[in-house]
Amino acid sequence: MNFVTASSLSTRKSADLLVIPFWKGKKGAEAASAMENPLSKLLEGPLSLRDFLGKEGEMLIVYASGQSEKRLALLGLGECEKITVERLRRAYAQVAKTCQKQKFKEINILPPSCEGMSTEDLVRGICEGLLLPNYAFTMLKHDSLKENKPEILAKATLIGINKQDLAKAQRYATLSESVNFVRDLVNGNADDITPQCLASAARDLEKTCKHVKTTLFDKKRIEKEKMGLLLAVNRGSFRDPVFAIIEYKGNPKSSDHTVVVGKGITFDTGGLNLKPTGSMETMKGDMAGAAAVLGIIQAASALGLKVNVTGVFASTENCIDALSFKPGDVYAGYSGKTVEISNTDAEGRLILADALAYTVEKLKPSRIIDLATLTGAVEIALGDEITGLMTNNDVLADLLVRAGSETGEKVWRLPLPEEYREALKSDIADIKSTGGRAGGCLKAGLFLQDFVGKTPWAHLDIAGTAFVSEAKRYQPKYATGIGVRLIISFLELL
Ligand code: BES
Ligand code: ZN
Ligand code: ZN
Repeated sequence: MNFVTASSLSTRKSADLLVIPFWKGKKGAEAASAMENPLSKLLEGPLSLRDFLGKEGEMLIVYASGQSEKRLALLGLGECEKITVERLRRAYAQVAKTCQKQKFKEINILPPSCEGMSTEDLVRGICEGLLLPNYAFTMLKHDSLKENKPEILAKATLIGINKQDLAKAQRYATLSESVNFVRDLVNGNADDITPQCLASAARDLEKTCKHVKTTLFDKKRIEKEKMGLLLAVNRGSFRDPVFAIIEYKGNPKSSDHTVVVGKGITFDTGGLNLKPTGSMETMKGDMAGAAAVLGIIQAASALGLKVNVTGVFASTENCIDALSFKPGDVYAGYSGKTVEISNTDAEGRLILADALAYTVEKLKPSRIIDLATLTGAVEIALGDEITGLMTNNDVLADLLVRAGSETGEKVWRLPLPEEYREALKSDIADIKSTGGRAGGCLKAGLFLQDFVGKTPWAHLDIAGTAFVSEAKRYQPKYATGIGVRLIISFLELL
């Protein structure tokens, strides 16, 4: 979406809709922005009849003549004293969703003025509310069905906004392009978005993004590096595995360096411990961590962040074949540690163990953050709106929780209880890959912790939040694109 500005109401250009904000007041809706007299006159009717009260996200469209727009939308922002960026996102998301349905392509926005909030925050709430739901995955829809295709809002004019704030708006638009890039990858067919496809997306970033360098390992190189756990998971697939390192150097003089590591299982059947019907249908989204890593690097470069961040992902399918890795067998990974495979469906932690161990040893980062659709247990614990965070470092925890509340991509810290490590003990290997159902996401976290040594590390279990069955507020259905806004905000806090 393109954001532009007009200096005042009287200089605005024609559009499909003018959005006028209102607070919910004691006696009904109250104007949240200065309006011209003819506009207030037009709205007297609906306001005096109390057809519209200004509740958060409430919207009423009235038809007007003699204006630059044929329609005026009264938009409720709720109570003025309670306004937050998140509430603005939710309110303006209603505008974006209505525009999609009604196929409105260009809108004019009269922003509210609010004493308790900076213009920067106002712009953030409005823009993200408009941008985040403004997405539809229609690539696989047949042409004849395209008349049902929702229209994507193309242009929003922010009336009375200065150049600096407009530049901020454009940054949110850039960021949401990376979110949508991730959504397309996660929503795409598993047979299209293969490890090879993710590898070529990584290669493309090097070509299209400034200060980005991509290194790809093919199967031969992965064998040479002795990434035996990634290779074990890959045994059941006819497609080769991929290991990718994508470096963005936004601050070459600094040695500070964050690595984000993603789980890239392009389809998770469960392997020989096959998933039942009902649990496998969304498993094309099991590469959401790797997709987020690609989106984070793309966004960091597009926004010109003055930080160094490297994306790493390991990718393979977890399929079934005569060659499949087997429950009860023991494999050694990059770190040299041997792992007893207690369940082939716990494959994510295996490929991450190799990626984390490699990252610690070869990339020597200041900190690591991994993103992985790792356990069903985290969804049971926190639902589909909160990501599980496990970390060995309190500073990382604070920054990630802060980034979560700033972006609305909420994270909640969970413990890494030493007591539960007992469950991962194996009689025949250095460690066992699973430790029973209870506290499943914590045991997965404990398993990963074994491969990061003393490096500050945070694990984000996005199994509940990466792929959702219902659209909610400003989040579209299916792939959410989680992780991009969160980690970019985290990097900006460093
Ligand atoms: N990819 C799944 C986790 C998952 C579940 C992601 C639901 C998204 C939605 C992961 O590989 C898995 O199957 N984990 C197992 C671990 C168990 C065998 C210890 C699980 O959560 O059941
Ligand atoms: Zn699995
Ligand atoms: Zn998985």
